[in-house]
This record gives sequence, structure tokens and C-alpha cells, in this order.
Amino acid sequence: MRIPLKNPILAASSGLTNSVEKIKELEEAGVGGVVLKSIFEEQINNEVTNMLSRDVQNTDYPEAEDYIRNYLRDNTVTRHLELLEKTKQKVKIPVIASVNCITADEWTTFAKDFEDAGADGLELNIFYVPNNRNESPGDIEQLYADVLNKVKKEVKIPVSVKFGLYHSNIIRTADLLKANGAAGIVMFNRFYEPDIDLEKMELTSSEVFSSPNDIRHTLRWVGIVSSQVFEIDIAASTGIHDGNAVIKQILAGAQVAQMCSTVYLNGPQVISNALEEISQFMKKWNFKRLEDFRGRLSYKNISDPMLYERSQFMKYFSNKK
Ligand SMILES: Cc1cc2nc3c(=O)[nH]c(=O)nc-3n(C[C@H](O)[C@H](O)[C@H](O)COP(=O)(O)O)c2cc1C
Repeated sequence: MRIPLKNPILAASSGLTNSVEKIKELEEAGVGGVVLKSIFEEQINNEVTNMLSRDVQNTDYPEAEDYIRNYLRDNTVTRHLELLEKTKQKVKIPVIASVNCITADEWTTFAKDFEDAGADGLELNIFYVPNNRNESPGDIEQLYADVLNKVKKEVKIPVSVKFGLYHSNIIRTADLLKANGAAGIVMFNRFYEPDIDLEKMELTSSEVFSSPNDIRHTLRWVGIVSSQVFEIDIAASTGIHDGNAVIKQILAGAQVAQMCSTVYLNGPQVISNALEEISQFMKKWNFKRLEDFRGRLSYKNISDPMLYERSQFMKYFSNKK
């Protein structure tokens, strides 16, 4: 995204990046850059709905909803802009703002406010749960492109799109985002997932944090997409818990790796440790720059690319006695 970084580790958008103090700690631990906690379209929409239903009497006239929506939106945007401005004053590392959008409404227009407040880049965290059987995969991909398109009209800073694993054709999604002006993609967001508590007989949330095993989905798609979609930077996200995981993503073709769960679980020190592991690895293999090994084991650079495509365990089981 042409944002100069001193190393390839970014702190992912989350509660870890929602205050200047926490971001300062991450900088001290050596992180290359941060993505601020997202400002959520969904959250504001819910707040509006809640407020309207609580105060039916005063809001039962046509302008009320607009007024409340604008008020809540401006208030939330102001809080985020303040965080961005203060962070930019206190840290030297690049700061990327993050907007969660689920529609291409007027919501996208305040991307410009983030640019004006000094954001080095913008990450669009787009997640849409398709629960309408009449929508085709193409319609859904188009929604992502529409949001991006609208934001690109507002800003000059580089924009990336963070999306989830559940796309029927990830290469096509990346192509579409590139064609609509994305400078980068973040693969993948890890969303709130449901679970069921059998004791209480109710729906709950499943484990919030990833585990190191979750790296494999990201690794497969970073390896494949980096080989097929050019001139778009890939930030790997999900399951990257240590320096070795960052190295693996770079070998697969990622530009940077984002860390989240491991920092929650182990503290910012995990970033210093990861940087040390990367240095040791580079010394061992005599690599001077990340470019010396970036993409070396991507889909197009290995002799058996089928390893990236293999989805069944046939060989594994046929080798077992
Ligand atoms: C507590 C928590 C809050 C998060 N908040 C956001 C957010 O505001 N915006 C966003 O794009 N991703 C958010 N994420 C997702 C992370 O940025 C990251 O993509 C995901 O956790 C996968 O990375 P990991 O395996 O390193 O945790 C959040 C994750 C966690 C665990």
C-alpha cells in the first residue's frame, strides 16, 4: 500500500488498538504499524433502533430517526477521529483507520474525515451475512466492490479491504477489489461465531480468540492469491501467533502479517519475540531483506502447487497402516 513500515507486523484492528496508551505500548514492543479499532456501521444502526424503540413518544415523527441517526453517527465519528488525531500525535508508526461497512450508504462518506485527520491508510472491514436466497454470489461480491468504489471516490489515501473466508471464489473477489481500486486486501477477518450452551439451552458466542492452527486457511489463500493477483498487497490475518507464523505468511507471498489474538493472550511482548524470531531466521538463511524470501513458497514458485489445492486426506490415509 506504499505505507513505509519498519517491519512486517501490524497490530490488527481490535480492542488492542482503541486507545492511545495501548497503541503506545504496541509501538514500544516494536510493532510496524497499527490498524485502529473499527468504527461500526452495524453498531450505530443498532443504537439508532434501540433509541427509537425506547423513546417512541418523542421519536414518532418523521424527522426523528434522521436526527438521531445523524447525532449518533457524528458522535461516534468524532470519538474515532479524536483517537486517530491523538494517536498520530503520540506515535511515529503508521496508523490505519478501519471502517466496518455493510452497505454502500452515505456511511462511507466520512472516510474522508479519517483522511483529513491524518490516517496513513484506510482498511474497510466488510462483512455481510447472506441470508437471502435470491442473492447470487455475484451480487454479494458486487456489494463489496460498491462499498470500496464509493470510499475510493472520497479519499486519496490507500484503501484495503478486509474480508472473511466465506467467498465462493476468493481469487475473483481479489480481482474485483483490485479492479475497483483496492491497494491491499486483508485475508481473513475472523468473525464472531455462534455456539450453543447445552446446559443453559441457549445460543452463545464461541471462542473469541484464534489458535495457531487457524493459520492454515490464511496460508493456503495467501499462497494462491499472491500468485494470481498482482499489484495488490496482501496482509495475512488469522492464526498468526508468533514469528514463525509471520515468516510462513511471507514465504507464501504476504506483504505483512496482522496479529491480534496472540497479543490479547500473551501481551505486546509477543511482538518483540516474533521480531527476534524473524531476525534469527533471516540470519540463518542469510537473507538481507524480506524480498529475499517473500513468495518463495507461493503457489507459483513451488514445484508441486497441488499442495496448495489438495483438500482431501487421501494420501495421508492411504499411507497409514
Ligand atoms: C476482541 C476482538 C475484537 C476485534 N475487533 C475487530 C474490529 O473492530 N475490526 C476488525 O476489522 N477486526 C476485528 N477483530 C478481528 C481481528 O482484527 C483479526 O482479524 C482476527 O482476530 C484474526 O486474527 P487473529 O487470529 O490474530 O486473532 C477483532 C478480534 C478480536 C479477538
